[in-house]
Amino acid sequence: MTTPEHVAIIMDGNGRWAKARGLPRVAGHRAGVEALRKAVRAAGDAGVSWLTVYAFSSENWSRPKTEVSDLMGLLKLFIRRDLAELHHSGVRVRIIGEREGLAPDIAALLEEAETLTASNRALNLVIAFNYGGRDEIVRAARRIAEAAVKGELDPANLTSEGFADFLDTSGIPDPDLVIRTSGEQRISNFLPWQSAYSEFVFLSCFWPDFTREHFAESLRQYAARERRFGATVAESVPAGVAS
Ligand code: IPE
Ligand code: IPE
Ligand code: MG
Repeated sequence: MTTPEHVAIIMDGNGRWAKARGLPRVAGHRAGVEALRKAVRAAGDAGVSWLTVYAFSSENWSRPKTEVSDLMGLLKLFIRRDLAELHHSGVRVRIIGEREGLAPDIAALLEEAETLTASNRALNLVIAFNYGGRDEIVRAARRIAEAAVKGELDPANLTSEGFADFLDTSGIPDPDLVIRTSGEQRISNFLPWQSAYSEFVFLSCFWPDFTREHFAESLRQYAARERRFGATVAESVPAGVAS
């Protein structure tokens, strides 16, 4: 079976999971953290090298203040509680998204997670936090323009590979497979540049219910896909047909 090198997940449906149980939304987010722990283990066990998870989007700031602060609190808790174990399991943590404007304690924790795990090689866990694809592209364009103004870069020589070096994901392979839970079939500003040729699997389960079986099923669906990248696939000539 072809295993994807990089799986990216839009962890969606925490709120609806909680609502279905008559619980506050924060209970759904807490259960979502538990599902994330399981997903990290499942990805490692499946031999996936990169796992990117969408934890907080640049648009999620428009949620009620209390929910935003619950989500910030959970990120802090996740890093404080799980960092040692992730490090012990050889997981390298990297964060993508806008760092500017984050609370200093959160910025410091993100930095600590990246620094502590920098030389780990078992699994790369990329956390998209305060991430928005358009925002990422605009920040890259701004830095490219600044480099051009300084004469460090000639716009005539800019290629897509060169552009990608200015994205937060510089050095990270594009996702082969993007999974979204909760039944929604949209990307919600998640890795729009990087997922240009990704395969998508949409699952109806809410994120807190995501298990390693869902992960395995997504990998099976991926393995059955035929990726063409715009080219044609060499067709085999049926037996008995003269060419
Ligand atoms: C995903 O669950 C978690 C984040 C966006 C942070 P939601 O909070 O979006 O849950 P639903 O989509 O409202 O059910
Ligand atoms: C995407 O889910 C963001 C994360 C999973 C972090 P949302 O729930 O914010 O997306 P929409 O609003 O349904 O598009
Ligand atoms: Mg949602």
